Amino acid sequence: MTASSVRHLAVLGSTGSIGRSTLDVAARHPERFRVEALAAARDVETMVEQCVLFRPRVAAMADEAAAVALADHLRRADVPTAVLAGAAGVEAVAALDGVDTVMAAIVGGAGLAPTLAAVRTGARVLLANKEALVMAGALFMSAVARHGARLLPIDSEHNALFQALPAGYAGEPTRAGVRRLLLTASGGPFRTRAPGDLAHVTPDEACAHPRWVMGRKISVDSATMMNKGLEVIEAHWLFGVAADAIEVVVHPQSVVHSLVEYVDGSVLAQLGNPDMRTPIAHALAWPDRVDAGVVPLDLFQVAKLEFEAPDLRRFPCLRIAREALVAGGAAPIVLNAANERAVAAFLDGRLRYDRIAVAIETTLATYAPAAPASLEDVFAIDARARIAADDWIGGDATRLAMTRPAAA
Ligand SMILES: NC(=O)c1ccc[n+]([C@@H]2O[C@H](COP(=O)([O-])OP(=O)(O)OC[C@H]3O[C@@H](n4cnc5c(N)ncnc54)[C@H](OP(=O)(O)O)[C@@H]3O)[C@@H](O)[C@H]2O)c1
Repeated sequence: MTASSVRHLAVLGSTGSIGRSTLDVAARHPERFRVEALAAARDVETMVEQCVLFRPRVAAMADEAAAVALADHLRRADVPTAVLAGAAGVEAVAALDGVDTVMAAIVGGAGLAPTLAAVRTGARVLLANKEALVMAGALFMSAVARHGARLLPIDSEHNALFQALPAGYAGEPTRAGVRRLLLTASGGPFRTRAPGDLAHVTPDEACAHPRWVMGRKISVDSATMMNKGLEVIEAHWLFGVAADAIEVVVHPQSVVHSLVEYVDGSVLAQLGNPDMRTPIAHALAWPDRVDAGVVPLDLFQVAKLEFEAPDLRRFPCLRIAREALVAGGAAPIVLNAANERAVAAFLDGRLRYDRIAVAIETTLATYAPAAPASLEDVFAIDARARIAADDWIGGDATRLAMTRPAAA
């Protein structure tokens, strides 16, 4: 490896599930990857461990008190990492001088501004934060083109599509002979549960994903299949494919990570064990390949692969997300904001699981602003939609109590 082929890495959301897997892959190849900067929100303990191990130049905590605590710990441990605080600190990490590769793995809408800050430097941006693309689709992709950034998908499905599409594919499905994109979905923990039995599932049940280990927000999104809905929107923007040419296929084994169907009848798929280190290593090293530490796929052990159509009665969030994509304009921003608030309320015990979809659909029906013309508009719509969703969620316990039949 020559010094110039070393990648200089910033990891946004380093303390999370994707962030930790990214550092795991980077640590396997110190001759290829130098960790320059890290950012997170408030998990000081994990951030201290990461700074001790990787000795980045800069670390940022979105939470001001967490930044003070981090600086204190690092001073006592004699680690020379500079500590930045607040949203501005996180954005500074995303756009740090000397960084050429940014892992965008902050969860939720909070990831949009820092991911865009990375895009504006023209860096290689490894996109895990799908919410950024859902919220700002067209504006985000035009910033990528304007600044010459290279976007590499981290979501296992989109990474699989990227691998199965022709090299150099640039959002031209007809010219490339692409007929459809097939996004696979595990179906999550409630794939076979009767819709009527979902009212009282707990956060721990919803987060117990049968195949993937992930952060809590995306785990709930996987249980409701909102995650797949967000991924349909993400695929639309990443690959320039219309909504009706993106099909969702439930595949409980989670071995086929997605497929591209071509006009000549060929279907190309990417397979692997469900371990996010595969797409992460692919994007980190692209166009090379590096060992990800992932157990090789044993097809004899997998033995059979099943595919079924998603049940939209059981998974209304998938339908709602598709409708928001087709409606366009501000609808995906409102969808994402209402989903984040509803999932947070469910995880805090303030909203029933089966009311997540109702909260999102009602917010979309009651708050329908004009399409955003700028990023400022995106942030304003997002903030208003969160308030509208919170209002509805706040009144839901009373609403349910009023509709409950009185005891005999
Ligand atoms: N996990 C997966 O397998 C997977 C797969 C595909 C895509 N994704 C996507 O990747 C993203 C991350 O998912 P995850 O599962 O890794 O989430 P996670 O485990 O919950 O981690 C989230 C990370 O974001 C940080 N964070 C939250 N708010 C922040 C803010 N305002 N500023 C800076 N950092 C902030 C958290 O810091 P603290 O720990 O300090 O709170 C943490 O490091 C999501 O968009 C998800 O949809 C995840």
